[in-house]
Amino acid sequence: MRAVISGMACAYPLRPSRRTRRSNRGSTASARATRVLLTAGAQHAMEVTFATIARRGDLVLTEELTYSGMKALSNHLGFHVRGLPMDADGLRPDAVEDACRAGASALYTMPTLQNPTGTIMCEGRRREVAAIAARHDVAIVEDDRYGFYATNSDVPPLASMASGPSYFISRVSKSLVPGVRIGYLLVPAGMGARVNAAIFASTVMASPHLRRRQVTDWRFSPDEGARLRVRASRVGAAE
Ligand SMILES: Cc1ncc(COP(=O)(O)O)c(C=O)c1O
Repeated sequence: MRAVISGMACAYPLRPSRRTRRSNRGSTASARATRVLLTAGAQHAMEVTFATIARRGDLVLTEELTYSGMKALSNHLGFHVRGLPMDADGLRPDAVEDACRAGASALYTMPTLQNPTGTIMCEGRRREVAAIAARHDVAIVEDDRYGFYATNSDVPPLASMASGPSYFISRVSKSLVPGVRIGYLLVPAGMGARVNAAIFASTVMASPHLRRRQVTDWRFSPDEGARLRVRASRVGAAE
């Protein structure tokens, strides 16, 4: 997978190391370079996403218990948040259906190891939620911040099932290297330039040297690098 340094007026691709090119050969890592944007962590990825897709006064749906950073972001950007009821499998489809029908611009969800409940949404439920969102033209913002830890779960990301617009957020900060605040954001085709403009407006760019080493070269233990790469490529592979 080729990564992109975003935050400049135009994004330019980093050349992966020979080792990365070798290990990607024949893999499903097909996310197009212009769809993968690098951010200063997952919270920053959320900020640039919602700054792009949610206007002041818009409604954004979430799980009934959600990550506190989402509340902070709604105060900051001026959109409203409505929490939807969950059961043991995560968001309840009937509640998603009703809320989408009433009008919402996005659904922010953590299908894998939801914060704070730890719920993992099963595959069937993901397909249902993805279909409902697409039917109502509601963008899905999937926060996969904890997906890295779900070593026993092989459920595909919700964003990989969405036929409508979907955003997929992950990061290496905290999962691999606590001090390195790097996130990555997969955006729908055609949205790269707009989200990139939000990255430039908010932070210009993170250190390209850190990014090159930590994100494109995957210089971690083979297991850790492979796990992150597989999670990202499964979303990109649905393109
Ligand atoms: C669900 C969730 N998303 C995003 C973040 C922010 O992550 P980062 O530290 O990479 O900005 C957190 C932080 O705890 C989180 O719990």
